[in-house]
Amino acid sequence: MPADSDTPAADMDDADDDVLVPIPPDHGEAEPAPEEVQANLYDFPKYYDLVFGSDWKAEYDFLLDGIKKHGDGAVQTMFEPACGTGRLMVKLGKAGYAIAGNDLNEKAVAFCNARLARHGLPETAVVGDMADFSVEEPVDACFNMINSFRHLGSQAEAESHLNCIADALRPGGLYFLGLHLTPEDDDWEGEETWHARRGQLSIISDLRTTHFDRANRMETLGMTFDVSTPTRRFIMRDVMHYRTYTRVEIKELFQTVDRFEILETYDFCYEIDEPIEIDALTEDVVFVLKKK
Ligand SMILES: C[S@@+](CC[C@H](N)C(=O)[O-])C[C@H]1O[C@@H](n2cnc3c(N)ncnc32)[C@H](O)[C@@H]1O
Repeated sequence: MPADSDTPAADMDDADDDVLVPIPPDHGEAEPAPEEVQANLYDFPKYYDLVFGSDWKAEYDFLLDGIKKHGDGAVQTMFEPACGTGRLMVKLGKAGYAIAGNDLNEKAVAFCNARLARHGLPETAVVGDMADFSVEEPVDACFNMINSFRHLGSQAEAESHLNCIADALRPGGLYFLGLHLTPEDDDWEGEETWHARRGQLSIISDLRTTHFDRANRMETLGMTFDVSTPTRRFIMRDVMHYRTYTRVEIKELFQTVDRFEILETYDFCYEIDEPIEIDALTEDVVFVLKKK
């Protein structure tokens, strides 16, 4: 098992200078076969953050634009359910927002809090379940940008999550909820390969759908991190499960919970001046929800 992978380090903090480039799916490795380990990738926040952390800017700008466009002018406090490594929390905290979050994974929470502390911000991430939490004081906005919501495996958990968010928001508060929908053309096969580098750490990540159980609404993804340091190379494998939502199923969920008004929908281009109409082929969507 990798030794120092969950230890935040100063040079691992900000993703601004990271290099993240898509590479063709058929990249070949001529080296001898590296060691392979089965692991929960969320237990390795340094690696997670390198692969996913460099994408913060478009989401961050979108959140600020969205608050301006859809908020009532008084957004100062924010909460991120399933905050992970806090890649967005730290940026919003540095911008002056009072920011807090929770995550099931204690290693991610420790990483997040260490990062917040390094920036002189309060350590406001807690270990918690996004389907069963409360906040001490209602907040102005919540956000959950990249599919974490789909980790909730049942209708009951999804409803409970939306009720927790509604309870955590002040009246009129906003919830930015980003997820991939199941398009109606049955084209569920997806694959993404990226190469990310920070300092002397290099990771080739590969994420692909391996099974799509439409009847039970469950997508299975295989995820591989091919990790290279100056002294070692190894491959980490994980399997992730994401509940699926068609455009009809997500809207039915909102109707059942009945705590939010849908203000607008966008896609993962995060262009605040380019809202989208969800149609049969829509995949990535960010809902801007307003607490009723
Ligand atoms: C894709 S990561 C996203 C992390 C972060 N929101 C971001 O944008 O980088 C998903 C996160 O959801 C967390 N998670 C999964 N199920 C959860 C639950 N029921 N409650 C809280 N966190 C959960 C995982 O531990 C992981 O950190």
